[in-house]
This record gives sequence, structure tokens and C-alpha cells, in this order.
Amino acid sequence: MSQSNRPGVRNIAKVTCVGGGVIGAGWAAHFMRAGLDVAVYDQAAERESYLRESLANAMPALTELGMAPGATPSRVFFTTDFEEALAGTDFIQESGPENIDTKISLLSKIDAHTPPDVVIASSSSGFLSSKLRSGATKHPERILVGHPFNPPYLIPLVEIAGGDAARRAADHASAFYRSTGCEVVELDREIHGYIGNRIQYAVLREVLYLMSQGVADLESIDRAIAAGPAIRWAVMGLSSILFLGKSDPSLWGKFVESLGREMDRGYIAPASFQPDQALLQKYAEQVAKGIGVNGQAELIALRNAGVVGIRSELQRVRTRLAGSEHELG
Ligand SMILES: NC(=O)c1ccc[n+]([C@@H]2O[C@H](COP(=O)([O-])OP(=O)(O)OC[C@H]3O[C@@H](n4cnc5c(N)ncnc54)[C@H](O)[C@@H]3O)[C@@H](O)[C@H]2O)c1
Repeated sequence: MSQSNRPGVRNIAKVTCVGGGVIGAGWAAHFMRAGLDVAVYDQAAERESYLRESLANAMPALTELGMAPGATPSRVFFTTDFEEALAGTDFIQESGPENIDTKISLLSKIDAHTPPDVVIASSSSGFLSSKLRSGATKHPERILVGHPFNPPYLIPLVEIAGGDAARRAADHASAFYRSTGCEVVELDREIHGYIGNRIQYAVLREVLYLMSQGVADLESIDRAIAAGPAIRWAVMGLSSILFLGKSDPSLWGKFVESLGREMDRGYIAPASFQPDQALLQKYAEQVAKGIGVNGQAELIALRNAGVVGIRSELQRVRTRLAGSEHELG
């Protein structure tokens, strides 16, 4: 899991996480597991105890996923001193609040304080990288999006969105993230919300529609996702799964035509459906009173153990299938 010394790629030994909230602390756990030194900077001193607590809570999952030699939480260092956090760093993961003005000013400040070959990746959930780098005057071409899924130490996907201006930085970031065990998807062009979040929003819109129509309660809708499409999505993506929808692959084109007809026939929320504030409020209340009534601890324990189990089993299955292909070949 260590970063290889590829020509032109900065050897990465120290990562700085700017912002120590849910995502910054999650990234710190991920980079720590990969055997790196990690500095976490946050302007709020109380974030240190949150960071320590998050690392402790993540440890069972990190241990099961496998720690790199020498990886230990004591190599994660917290500071409220910006310059100290950036000193000697090789890679920056910015996870400040999702506010465009804050991001632009934070990223331009980081740009002004780091050598040009240090890639600056933002965890932003949807801003365009061209906008994020718009305040940077030194080396904006090394600022890009490195979007994780929560929590970054468990969900392997990182979406890299840099646009044409950051191709070289994107290559570096991609090699680095992969070396730490991430699954990287690079976007070919800029778009708000990238890929994974856009798909989640499409699903959320449908969930809100089903709720507004009184089709089922939210617990049932969640079960219909988790026990149905999502369990397949953990193994492969939507298009791979749909391709298996007919026993005869020569019928695939016709099958896709029928999916189009079904969409026309009202199998999805109408294009005119726009969730309003009242509906969003109702949704928030119903989740809090139902799914969330016992707080987060139980759900986090289930999520962590479940994701580790799925990842480990998938790894075993892929290795076994690759082995049998080799035998057949
Ligand atoms: N929460 C998620 O599920 C999720 C998933 C993927 C990406 N993201 C993105 O990651 C980023 C962080 O999200 P989060 O959920 O961790 O937010 P959060 O509110 O939990 O954490 C933000 C942290 O930034 C700190 N901060 C505020 N201003 C700062 C500054 N000027 N300098 C340094 N630190 C500062 C805050 O003290 C806080 O600790 C956002 O861009 C968000 O969109 C979030």
C-alpha cells in the first residue's frame, strides 16, 4: 500500500488533511491505515478530541481491512496552526465546509503556502474544480476535486474531477489514491455533483416521490433498496447488472428499448416533480423519528461491519474467479 516512486510523481510520506470534521477525520483514518504520516488542521481546537474519538471508533474496521506496516493512530497529528500543518507535506486533502466562498479562500491560502508539486485535492461534494481554484494565484493547476464517500476509510471510491486544467495533477492524485487502496474514477469533464452523488440524488428524488404518494414507509423503502438493487450494486454497476436481464444477449437492444418505454409509462417520478421545503421537512422528521430514533451508534456499527464484510468477501471472490480464469486459460 505504499506510494511507489514513479518518475515525476512526488513520493508521498506525509498528507495534510485541512478540516477535521466527519470527512477530514475519516480521511485521516484512511491515510493512517496506509502507513502515512498525517497532519490534521482545523481552526477549531475542540476538533482534536473528535478526531481521536473517530480514529478509535474506526480502528476495528481498519484492523480488519488490514493496516500497513508501521501504521498507528499516533502518527496522526492535530494542530490549529496552519503553517505547521502544511510544513513538509506531500499531498493535501481539503475537507472544510461545503461553502464556495470558504473553499475558494481556503484553497487559495493553501496554494500560497505549498510548493508547486504538491497536489491539493478538495473533498467537495459537488463544486466544479474550475470554480474551486478560481482564487488561487500561484499554481491553480494542481487544485482538483478528490471526492470521497462517507466514511473515506471504508468506502473505496474517490472521484477525481479536475477538468482540462489539471490533467497532470489528476494523474498524480490518481496514482497516489490507488497506492493507498482507493478505487479511483476520473471524470472526463466537469459537472456539478460528479457521478456518485448525482446518482444518489436521482434515487433520493424517487424516494421522496414514493413517500409523497404514500407508497410505503421509509423503513420499507430502505429495505427495498438494500435487499434489492443495492446488494447487486455492491458487486457491479447498474449497466453490468441490466445486461444480465435477458438470458439471450442478442435481445439486449430490445430489452433497453423496453426500459425506455417503461420510463415513459410512469415507472419513475414525473419530470415535473420537484420536492418542496415542506416535503423535505417531512422526510427529515420521518427519518429522525423512525430510522434514526435510536441515534447513530447502532447504524454506524452495522454499516462498518457490513461494509468491511462485503469488501473482504468481494476481494476473496474476485481472487478466486481470477484464479479459475487463469486455470481455464
Ligand atoms: N459528510 C459527508 O457525507 C460528505 C461526503 C463526501 C464529501 N463531503 C464533503 O467534505 C467536506 C467536509 O464535509 P464534513 O461533512 O466533514 O463537514 P463538517 O462540517 O463535519 O467539517 C468541516 C470542518 O471544517 C472546519 N473548518 C471550518 N472552516 C475552516 C477553515 N477555514 N479552515 C480549516 N477548517 C475549517 C470545521 O471546524 C469542521 O471541523 C465538504 O466539502 C463536504 O461536502 C462530505
